[in-house]
Amino acid sequence: MAFTLWFTGISGSGKSTLSLRVFEAMVARRLPVERLDGDIVRKEYAGLLGYEDRDRLINIRCLGFVSSALNRHGIISIVSAIAPFQASRALNRERIAEYIEVYCACPFEVAATRDVKLLYARAKRGEIPNFTGLTSAYEIPEAPEVTVHTDTEDVDESVRTVLGFLERTGRIAS
Ligand code: ADX
Repeated sequence: MAFTLWFTGISGSGKSTLSLRVFEAMVARRLPVERLDGDIVRKEYAGLLGYEDRDRLINIRCLGFVSSALNRHGIISIVSAIAPFQASRALNRERIAEYIEVYCACPFEVAATRDVKLLYARAKRGEIPNFTGLTSAYEIPEAPEVTVHTDTEDVDESVRTVLGFLERTGRIAS
């Protein structure tokens, strides 16, 4: 059965990088798979959806809806979006038949130091309202299926952890 693999974590925690690598590994295995990345999908909103709690709830709910529809048609869905609120993750867990949560654990200070998109620097100057981990909450997942520690592991290690979980649980062939 197709499943949704949801990478959650703060900005800069490695969600996009890891989800892309796992996506590529699945494509290489000729599995039917689609990737929904928060940064990419949000471009389609053309700036009309922001980062207020309400906007995020809508974003996560819609990503869950699309993901579940893909799964129903046999397509594996890999989502990478912060999904900061427990309630919206719980809703997706309820609505998606096979929901697998991957928590990209990374201390705020480490993500802020990486600052790949230079957003943390701007947020600290007060230029970005409702910034996750600073002025907007990130609720730590209570029972993710997989946790990767992106501050201490390298990318290959974390990718192996995710693929290993999928293989062990019979989601993909080893
Ligand atoms: S979510 O909260 O609705 O799940 P999503 O993953 O789609 O967020 O988008 C997060 C991305 O938007 C971040 O990786 C970052 O590039 C960008 N971004 C812009 N403003 C913010 C903000 N206020 N808080 C968090 N991320 C932001």
